[in-house]
Amino acid sequence: MKTRILITGNLPENVILPLKEKYEMEMNQEDRPMDRQELLLRVKDKQGLLPMLSDSINEEVLNCAPHLKMIANFGVGYNNIDVRLATARGIMVSNTPGVLTDATAELAFTLMLSVSRRLVEGDRMVREGRFKFWAPMLFLGREVTGKTLGIIGMGKIGKAIAVRARAFDMRILYHNRKRINSKEEENMRVEYVDLKTLLKESDFVSLNVPLTEETKHLIGKNELSLMKSTAFLINTSRGQVIDEKALVEVLRARKIGGAGLDVYENEPSLTPGLTELDNVILLPHVGSGTLETRIKIGTLAVENLIAGLEGRTPPNFVNPEVLKK
Ligand code: GLV
Repeated sequence: MKTRILITGNLPENVILPLKEKYEMEMNQEDRPMDRQELLLRVKDKQGLLPMLSDSINEEVLNCAPHLKMIANFGVGYNNIDVRLATARGIMVSNTPGVLTDATAELAFTLMLSVSRRLVEGDRMVREGRFKFWAPMLFLGREVTGKTLGIIGMGKIGKAIAVRARAFDMRILYHNRKRINSKEEENMRVEYVDLKTLLKESDFVSLNVPLTEETKHLIGKNELSLMKSTAFLINTSRGQVIDEKALVEVLRARKIGGAGLDVYENEPSLTPGLTELDNVILLPHVGSGTLETRIKIGTLAVENLIAGLEGRTPPNFVNPEVLKK
């Protein structure tokens, strides 16, 4: 009997072709998340699962999937999967690092430039017919060039943001679980500082950490209070890294310059008050959302899935300890 797999999102034909040839495949063909009950039902007889970031692959799903061998996540962050439980049950898990680095770094920079130059506000003003005259001191923003950028999380995406920041002649501070080696720091023109110093000295703070128990609410009331009154907070990582209620309060009181958010604490729901503020730009989790990158993510997830199902090591293995079981 052929191996059975489930893809919970709608992926282009050329991406899924290698799976179609090998496996009995079911795919959600709608551009919306697979209905939860449908997912629980369909996963029952599957050996392979290719879920989207919006699917919580938790105990409920794993309990319904006694034959599951491999979960190939569509995305680099895998906080949507209970990896500990998957490992305990002998299920391999993979993600898609690397292929979305540039797209996400581009979006972080887009948010930095947009929020500091009030792009969305300006567009709204013109469309609504409120652009009546030009004056030298009206509708001013803040410059990115020459400012201090604080990168929290110096992984692939953090480093790609630093590359772009050098072109804007920025001073680059970073904070990370592990300090990178001094040669690399020198080449990248980045300075390692503690979190407090980073928050106090940065004009732009960019969050680029994975969501873990340690990074949940990494930025809360206390951390926000350390930021400059003119500084901007950019989040292209995971919403739960910020205490969103605390952020709304700080933005409402104009205690920081503004924020650019691509992700939310209870995605897709927003903390009440967020949409009423004009000092924040809100995007629908599109850090990796370019055609080129989404195709690369799909292709890599497919490669991981095939490798795992064929008994090879998936190129982007998240829980190699599963093999010791
Ligand atoms: C996107 O958010 C990803 O983790 O791939």
